[in-house]
Amino acid sequence: MPTAPPPQFPAGFRWGVSTSAYQIEGAVAEDGRGTSIWDTFAHSPGRVADGSTGDVACDHYHRHREDVALLAGLGVTAYRFSVAWPRIQPAGTGPANPAGLDFYDRLVDDLLAAGVDPVATLYHWDLPQPLEDAGGWLARDTAERFAAYADLVAARLGDRVKLWITLNEPFVHMSLGYGTGEHAPGRTLLFDAFPVAHHQLLGHGLAVAALRARTAGPVAIANNYSPVRVLGDTDADRAAGAAYEALHNRLFTDPLLGRGYPGGTLADPSVVRDGDLATIAAPIDVLGVNYYNPTGVRAPAEGSPLPFELAPVEGYPRTAFDWPVAPDGLRELLGWLRGTYGDALPPVEITESGCAYDDRPGPDGRVHDPERIAYLDGHLRAVRAALDDGVDVRGYFVWSLLDNWEWAEGFTKRFGLVHVDYATQARTPKSSYAWLRDTIAATRGEPAR
Ligand code: FCB
Repeated sequence: MPTAPPPQFPAGFRWGVSTSAYQIEGAVAEDGRGTSIWDTFAHSPGRVADGSTGDVACDHYHRHREDVALLAGLGVTAYRFSVAWPRIQPAGTGPANPAGLDFYDRLVDDLLAAGVDPVATLYHWDLPQPLEDAGGWLARDTAERFAAYADLVAARLGDRVKLWITLNEPFVHMSLGYGTGEHAPGRTLLFDAFPVAHHQLLGHGLAVAALRARTAGPVAIANNYSPVRVLGDTDADRAAGAAYEALHNRLFTDPLLGRGYPGGTLADPSVVRDGDLATIAAPIDVLGVNYYNPTGVRAPAEGSPLPFELAPVEGYPRTAFDWPVAPDGLRELLGWLRGTYGDALPPVEITESGCAYDDRPGPDGRVHDPERIAYLDGHLRAVRAALDDGVDVRGYFVWSLLDNWEWAEGFTKRFGLVHVDYATQARTPKSSYAWLRDTIAATRGEPAR
């Protein structure tokens, strides 16, 4: 257990937790919701580690009041959730399904009544299946469809959402969804997946315009970043590191901040039309940073189809996902963003940070997760250090409020501050929940509860 007092954060620093629709909601066939690529993928044999699906997940759709009470008890000032596109437009086009909007309308009102700012992500990977059937993010039209959907959501919620996030982790969606096939829609195009990058970014830019037309609320995107650790000291190792950095960290940031696509082999100019780069570079108010770990990179073996090889970063404790626990990587990453983009970098919020462990109730019925407490303590200190380094960080969101359905890992990875018994849906706050509650209170100058 950390013993040093928690670091202090500036007044107004945003404290939050994040979730996403398909990972917690369940109720996949209710109130007119359509099918998404994740429904299709999860129901395809062999795609998910434990053969599970998000059909029920945490049943949040029916239990959101209980979950809002957990947020209020935690004392967070913000909650980042995602809107399921197939609840709003079951087929990905056409008018809004009022029952779908009603659910998020109630959630937003409940959050505000509990003193928690609603932060809405428009796309956390659950593309309506009919759009995938028409080409998914390989098709330019999907970008236009996304902006039309953004408009429908903003028309209903734009007066109350405090921060909009267009896309969640377009890099991960492109690489795992369309590059290697470990995520929905399960396509294996490797570098031919580049149009997915461009069309997501274009969709982001068009959605920014749609949101600006409907709401004065600030707008962001949540990118996944991983500082690159070059393993080896040859020129070939360094070139591999640079290639991976361009792919993971710059492909979805350079164009957003007005620099166009990074040089090298990534961008296929035939999909980039006149005016697209200006659309993509529309100013944003916040850059969302999702950080989990650094990536080890070295030169590829001869004959490899990739310009790099990934290798484990050693020397850190590891989570149940086998990810290194490296808070220094967060400070390094924030410094890299500031150093690379300078004054073009908008204020940053850490929109995801968290860890999976095999948490289960002990004989006393309580769930003790000291590793998560150490993880959060370390990462908050890294954010504090980055602030001291001069990076403008305005918030920190823990992934995640609840244990939930972790994509291709199904229910096997528990990321929550709150334990969920999937058989009964009982929620049990872990010791990390109490620790974070007290830490937030202390940084706001309130006594521990
Ligand atoms: C991120 C995703 C989030 C969750 C965490 C563990 O890449 O955005 O949905 O799966 O990883």
